[in-house]
Amino acid sequence: MRAVTLLLCLLATSVSAQEVDEASGLIKADGWQLVRIHCGGCHSHKLVTGQRADRQTWLAIIRWMQATQNLWQFDDATEKGILDYLAANYAPQSDRRRAPIPPQLMPPRPAVDSGD
Ligand code: HEC
Repeated sequence: MRAVTLLLCLLATSVSAQEVDEASGLIKADGWQLVRIHCGGCHSHKLVTGQRADRQTWLAIIRWMQATQNLWQFDDATEKGILDYLAANYAPQSDRRRAPIPPQLMPPRPAVDSGD
């Protein structure tokens, strides 16, 4: 039992210990070199590492840059590698700034809505 606990502790430590590339600030995980190569030419990698998004939103950001900012097209494997990496390492997180509250969940605004 003690051995199992120890093993779990070791596993937890190795999973949470992220290695970060000093030059770019990118988390060194599968696919990070693709993002280093393709995503730092026009702006700092910090624009990438500061962003959190799900896979679909990352794709939308890429499509937006391709449509309006001269970002080049990727072959399928490259695009998949980039998206896998971004979705895995820069996903939305609950401990960051919260998402905006949807308007229908906001309290009424008496001062504005009372009409006087
Ligand atoms: C060809 C140039 C170019 C390349 C290469 C490029 N981007 Fe961008 N990207 C831009 C420009 C221009 C902006 C807008 C910058 C600004 O608003 O200051 C931008 C903005 C962004 C933003 C901020 C979007 C927002 O809503 O504020 C993110 C995130 C981003 N890029 C991620 C990436 C990722 C990931 C890659 C690699 C797949 C990448 N960029 C590669 C040109 C590029």
